[in-house]
Amino acid sequence: MVALDIVRAHNASLKTLPPNLVAVFVGGTSGIGFFTAREFVRTTTSPHVYLIGRNATEASKIMDELNSINSSSQVSFIQKDISLLKNVDEACSEIKSKEEQVNVLFMTCGYLTMKGRDETAEGLDRKMAVQYYARMRFISQLTPLLNKASETGNLSRVVAVLDPQAGLRLGGLDYSDLSLRHNFSLKNVLLHASSMTSLSMAHLANQNPKTAYIHEYPSGVETGVTRELFGRFNDTVMSTLGGLFRRFLFVPQVESGERHLFAATAPRYAPKADSAKTDVIGSDGVKGSGSYLLNWNGDILADTKKAQKLREEGGLDKVWGHTQEVMGKIEESGRF
Ligand SMILES: NC(=O)c1ccc[n+]([C@@H]2O[C@H](COP(=O)([O-])OP(=O)(O)OC[C@H]3O[C@@H](n4cnc5c(N)ncnc54)[C@H](OP(=O)(O)O)[C@@H]3O)[C@@H](O)[C@H]2O)c1
Repeated sequence: MVALDIVRAHNASLKTLPPNLVAVFVGGTSGIGFFTAREFVRTTTSPHVYLIGRNATEASKIMDELNSINSSSQVSFIQKDISLLKNVDEACSEIKSKEEQVNVLFMTCGYLTMKGRDETAEGLDRKMAVQYYARMRFISQLTPLLNKASETGNLSRVVAVLDPQAGLRLGGLDYSDLSLRHNFSLKNVLLHASSMTSLSMAHLANQNPKTAYIHEYPSGVETGVTRELFGRFNDTVMSTLGGLFRRFLFVPQVESGERHLFAATAPRYAPKADSAKTDVIGSDGVKGSGSYLLNWNGDILADTKKAQKLREEGGLDKVWGHTQEVMGKIEESGRF
């Protein structure tokens, strides 16, 4: 476990980085995205922050809070339903029109549901779209800006908060139906979104050796993630659970933000090009390979035989190839 005082000392040192760092929080209107954006704004000089989500009322409150924490920050809200890749493209176009580089792409978009397959107008399941395909589309569209940051010697990092443990534990992907059009179940969504995120990030770390890629498990955190399950009772349910079990169940919200900011910025999670500068083991079992699977406390999650098998059977290329095919078809014809 990375001790909290180490996390805090590192985060405080971000003040010494160049000003005007740019961070994009996909899912910054609630929960872990918001908690992390708040720490980023607190600890950096003149940051540019983009919050992406649907809820304009929450975004407006968060923008006021972030501006009051750091009056040198520039905070923008881009209102989009990112379950459609065309909306992801519009959000990225807006960022590209304003910024030359992106230092941190931090993605927490997601939700819990008990519903079955829910097809979007682009032919993807909505949960797979929000938790996997939209995230990969953000990475693809913003890679030139992440590369620009790394070429000028600045921080360049992608963080996806989901559940790397599911893929490590469960293994086994259905390569003939990666999007789960035919074999949909909530367990398969968990498995596919988790493993596909880990494998794609490992692929991307090889392609872009100056950017680091992190797939992170947040542990329990009191957030809005159960909103679709409990509807208007969500806040009551979460605060009752929190009241009863806070000390045992949940990472405190501020600590969660601090730890995720550490994951998004600490040099120990080095890009592949800087592998000589770290002893941390990447997701392929190799020191400093540029993609890392992290537990909530900053520890590396140990490799498993099931994850090894996915890599040995060519999972990195197969999953990224499929992802490009999905993105290409939607770009060409609006549907996969
Ligand atoms: N909290 C936990 O205990 C926990 C545990 C394990 C894993 N996770 C995972 O961690 C991630 C972060 O969750 P969280 O706890 O921070 O949840 P949260 O508080 O509900 O935040 C989720 C964010 O995703 C955005 N989002 C969801 N659907 C969207 C859509 N269609 N278009 C645009 N934005 C969308 C929401 O924005 P809008 O509402 O504004 O659209 C919100 O900002 C999720 O993937 C979750 O599954 C969380």
